[in-house]
Amino acid sequence: MDKEGLIDEQYADSSGSLPECSDTVLSQNERTDIRIRQGTLIDEQSLKDLDTVVPLEPARAEFIARWLREDTVLVAEANGRIIGYGVFNHAFFHQGQVEMLMIHQACRGRRVGERLLNALEKLCDTPRFYVTTNLSNHRMQKLLSRMGFRPGGYVHELDPGDPELIYVKDISNPAQRTRL
Ligand SMILES: CC(C)(COP(=O)(O)OP(=O)(O)OC[C@H]1O[C@@H](n2cnc3c(N)ncnc32)[C@H](O)[C@@H]1OP(=O)(O)O)[C@@H](O)C(=O)NCCC(=O)NCCS
Repeated sequence: MDKEGLIDEQYADSSGSLPECSDTVLSQNERTDIRIRQGTLIDEQSLKDLDTVVPLEPARAEFIARWLREDTVLVAEANGRIIGYGVFNHAFFHQGQVEMLMIHQACRGRRVGERLLNALEKLCDTPRFYVTTNLSNHRMQKLLSRMGFRPGGYVHELDPGDPELIYVKDISNPAQRTRL
């Protein structure tokens, strides 16, 4: 999943306090009041605004538009504002997978990713659920380990110098093939 982790670390290192202070973006009450819902085309600009890869790689904006049209996108909302999104599809060898998980930069490390990943897992309609991430993305790996994913191998040649790790989780009762 390309350079997400690297970018994540760069922001954390360079700023210390993030541009929109986390307490502004997500107050204490909002932390307990996060709503997960299906994303629609109306959300396109909000997802582009929060995605830290968009300013660096214009293709990401096109992917967001395509995911909203073709895949299942879930968004996390706090107080009516979108603070994260996740994409479910079957692009990984026809298996249920997370194509992307992206949390607003100022809201990371507050378990919003866990909430979205849990909701994405409920959509999984294959016996195994896959997520991939770069070796450099420690945050994502921590989240996946905590949620019971196990390492399932890696691919060297996607991002040279930063292998793509494949994580897998067994799903005991796969969902029926229906959308939310
Ligand atoms: C990776 C990401 C989705 C995780 O979402 P999140 O809401 O921050 O996740 P959580 O708060 O549930 O868990 C994050 C874990 O990383 C840990 N963490 C926080 N900062 C960290 C850092 N700089 N280095 C390593 N781990 C870190 C947290 O302690 C937490 O683990 P723990 O609670 O088990 O100790 C989010 O950080 C993000 O959007 N990153 C940019 C996009 C990306 O990398 N997506 C993944 C590839 S698709």
